[in-house]
Amino acid sequence: MKNDGSSANQHVLAFYSRHPISRDQILARIAAQRGHLDALVPEDLFAHDQDHYGGLDVVDALADRAGIGPGTRVADFCAGLAGPARYLAHRYGALVTCIELNPDRAPGAADLTQRVGLSGRVRVVRGNVMRVPLASGSVDAVISQEALLHVPDKGAVLAEAFRVLAPGGRLAFTDWAEHRPLAAEDRDAMWKGIAAQTIQSFDGYRRLIEAAGFRDILIEDLTADWGRILAQRFDMYRRLREETLRAGTPSGDDAFYTAYARLVELVQSGALGGGRFVATRGAHPAANV
Ligand SMILES: C[S@@+](CC[C@H](N)C(=O)[O-])C[C@H]1O[C@@H](n2cnc3c(N)ncnc32)[C@H](O)[C@@H]1O
Repeated sequence: MKNDGSSANQHVLAFYSRHPISRDQILARIAAQRGHLDALVPEDLFAHDQDHYGGLDVVDALADRAGIGPGTRVADFCAGLAGPARYLAHRYGALVTCIELNPDRAPGAADLTQRVGLSGRVRVVRGNVMRVPLASGSVDAVISQEALLHVPDKGAVLAEAFRVLAPGGRLAFTDWAEHRPLAAEDRDAMWKGIAAQTIQSFDGYRRLIEAAGFRDILIEDLTADWGRILAQRFDMYRRLREETLRAGTPSGDDAFYTAYARLVELVQSGALGGGRFVATRGAHPAANV
């Protein structure tokens, strides 16, 4: 399989359709703990529905950087099962629209949201963040977490973020980023194992964010935090290898396992890291101000 055009989406879609964080898995875990699924509240989901590094604390950090509070209209690009969206709606009173491409995850996100009574404040739209199905100037904040590595044209995503934001709106997202260019075989391993279409450099992201028209760009290096989390996760994957192989989830795949081992090495050697990228929407670039 090659990282080119038509097959690319299929690989990303298949990766998340087999992902262990799924609606059914979440409900099965909660049912096992509580004995039933009646009268679920958002807090019942939070330990299970966040598909990024750092749990709710890092959603708080994004909310802070993006200025999210009561009534803030937020678009979550690549929203997964809408875990961060429900947290932002429940804890901060935000109104969140989730953009999620995967045909299993989008309805899963909507179902979980409805079960905890947040459908009035969290809307799930199945769509691609390279062509966002939202009106121009319709949101106050765009967020995204650990997802843009799966999207081939990050310039298009950032242009869409700029378009859907109202003037003065905030962009805040986290993603993998290179400190040093990866070798071709490492890129290939990241594509095959974790469906990373392209990984930007920190500087490359700054240039793309600027080119999209944003100003006041702030980049926070999260590499040390992610390195610790990654090493813990890899230990867990090692321990659960037999179980994941039987369950058929991606973390049982040889390609995933190889990529993850290499990911840990790349992060620990300082070649690869994570960043939080924050910026403000000024005027449209065509206005040249
Ligand atoms: C690591 S998960 C992150 C989910 C969520 N942000 C969270 O933190 O819980 C990445 C998500 O991006 C979605 N995705 C990948 N490519 C996409 C695209 N082009 N448009 C919209 N969603 C996409 C995947 O289906 C997956 O659910």
